[in-house]
Amino acid sequence: MYNAIPVIAIDGPSASGKGTVAQLAADALGFAYLDSGALYRVVAFATQQKNIAWDNAEAVAECAKALSIQFKNGQIYLNNADISDEIRTEAMGKGASQVAIHAPLRAALVELQHSFCKPPGLVADGRDMGTVIFPEAELKIFLTASTEVRANRRYQQLIGKNQAANYESILLDLQERDARDKGRASAPLIMAKNAVLLETDHLTISEAVNVVLQNYQQKIRK
Ligand code: C5P
Repeated sequence: MYNAIPVIAIDGPSASGKGTVAQLAADALGFAYLDSGALYRVVAFATQQKNIAWDNAEAVAECAKALSIQFKNGQIYLNNADISDEIRTEAMGKGASQVAIHAPLRAALVELQHSFCKPPGLVADGRDMGTVIFPEAELKIFLTASTEVRANRRYQQLIGKNQAANYESILLDLQERDARDKGRASAPLIMAKNAVLLETDHLTISEAVNVVLQNYQQKIRK
């Protein structure tokens, strides 16, 4: 069903800015937006609440199957409670990357991700949007930036929210998360063969959004 609906898949490493770029591109096109990383963060949060160890693949997947996750007006609800702030912490980002290595959990989240694909289209961001979840996507973008630039962006983001931040530990966390995301056996972070590489070290957010939109216009003109 989703093959008939245009999908723009934006994959890339943590803190590359792909979430912001994906959301703005979706707004510009009037498309739905899927923040797939949020789903793994919700699972990390829910399992922690239930004292389920993040390395227990089967228990994590079973817990995920029973969750009621909803996205409403940019907020994320778990069993009707708004947990948007709780899942945006560095600890939940780290937890998400630990639960995300489990194949049974990834399988349990496929249908939910497909359900976001509705007319007139979808912009989906994550690690495996173009490789696994939407392999037929109209446009695939691999959005990245150097580790130092990404660590600095995350640092500025936390400072902007008046949260404690230490550049060196953010950098180390990012390197650890990149290694885990790229090295796992199930749906590792890799650039899809037919993806457009978008390096954003020297681009503003709106320049990056424009590159995505221009590439999309080119694709649909063909
Ligand atoms: O994108 P975000 O930082 O919110 O993702 C948190 C973690 O969830 C990532 O580090 C990654 O391990 C995992 N993830 C994933 N597949 C996706 C999206 C996120 O494995 N499609």
